[in-house]
Amino acid sequence: MPRQDALLYARHLERRQSDIESAMAELGYDRLLIHSGRPMPRFFDDQAPPYRANAVFVSLVPLPEAADSLLEFRPGRRPRLWYCQPGDYWHLPPPDPESWWADALDVEVVDSPKAWRDRLDAPAARALIGRVEELQVDAGRADLNPEQLIARLDEARTRKTAWERHCIGLANERAVPGHRAAARAFSQGASEHDIQLAYLSAVRQDQDALPYSSIVALNEHAAVLHYQHRQSMPPARHSSFLIDAGASQAGYAADITRTYAMADQDEFAAVISAMDRAQQRLCDQVRADVDFVELHQETHRAVAVICEQAGLVRMAPEDQVEAGITSHFFPHGLGHFIGAQVHDVAGHRAPDGSALPPPTRHPALRLTRRLEPGNVVTIEPGLYFIPMLLDALKASSYSRHIDWQAVERLLPCGGVRIEDNVLVTEGDPVNLTRQAFETIQD
Ligand code: GLY
Ligand code: MN
Ligand code: MN
Repeated sequence: MPRQDALLYARHLERRQSDIESAMAELGYDRLLIHSGRPMPRFFDDQAPPYRANAVFVSLVPLPEAADSLLEFRPGRRPRLWYCQPGDYWHLPPPDPESWWADALDVEVVDSPKAWRDRLDAPAARALIGRVEELQVDAGRADLNPEQLIARLDEARTRKTAWERHCIGLANERAVPGHRAAARAFSQGASEHDIQLAYLSAVRQDQDALPYSSIVALNEHAAVLHYQHRQSMPPARHSSFLIDAGASQAGYAADITRTYAMADQDEFAAVISAMDRAQQRLCDQVRADVDFVELHQETHRAVAVICEQAGLVRMAPEDQVEAGITSHFFPHGLGHFIGAQVHDVAGHRAPDGSALPPPTRHPALRLTRRLEPGNVVTIEPGLYFIPMLLDALKASSYSRHIDWQAVERLLPCGGVRIEDNVLVTEGDPVNLTRQAFETIQD
């Protein structure tokens, strides 16, 4: 690991330690314990889904694979980690601590969670973050997952440190060869399954290590927002391809979507180009003090313009938005925070901790705050042909404003989404995804 990583990580932990210590002082805690998590088998089963440590833990130590480990903060002391390396010949235990991260805290290697259990009962006012069923003991005398403290930790995580920005940038760079390989596989007529294999092979990460399950959607499947299958056989025709797939770096996520049209799909290709231009204009507005709700509303106007230009809707863009027509074509939010979780925390909370619920007309919007330097957000406008939502539009009084023949022609292409990860700064935004596509050449 380069020296720069050690430095960035040490500064990150210092910053978070100071955030945590002020929250603890304010809320009257002398000790904060954070459990990594542990793999939990499925119900009545001995098999567990792929494991990843809790994001609160990963946002403090770069160990997404650590299990049965415990992190402790006490004011004025170095953070302490009980790092569990069990003697296990059924599984490969986690690797030895590496100095680039381990030098920044006090690490004790233990072979079982028994080694730290007594910390839960130690005297002093303490808070514990973790799941009881994963801790395998009760919370002792600790306050379990205290809301106010977690809100303060979440708030700190909204402003990414240089270490976090570095990791998200590297995760984006890692995903780029995958997106290129996937586009090539699509143009060669591959199945969804084979496209996914091409993606994973180029990213050099297993699906279990990715921050979320890749969405690999051919044709109409692109209209299913979180399409979760990958068909093993190619479809009879390849009209369009939407891929929403990321990569991880030290537990931090990239979340990238691209959409492609086959050469014979001029009409859909024009929609993709218009969406790409609109998306870049939106990315350029990712600036300090911008209200994300307003940017989302502006996205509806951009979608309306595309609907009008593509001949789908015969109505002025402002009127389309007012009438709620665009919500039938663009039913999700413009974007969300991204970090140690792909949908990162505190999107619905103001910096002072008060609730910022999404507007009634936009319930799926995951981020309702004013942007601040250090925020990293996704910008992911889309336009889809979703039968269920189109049926509702057809049944409404606005049906006569829709060119249903144009809709029918585009229906087999499913939809378009373009998604980048963008850093808010004091000045111009930094589009980490487009930057990665420029930096990483094939
Ligand atoms: N990949 C899920 C999302 O874009 O939010
Ligand atoms: Mn996203
Ligand atoms: Mn995505």
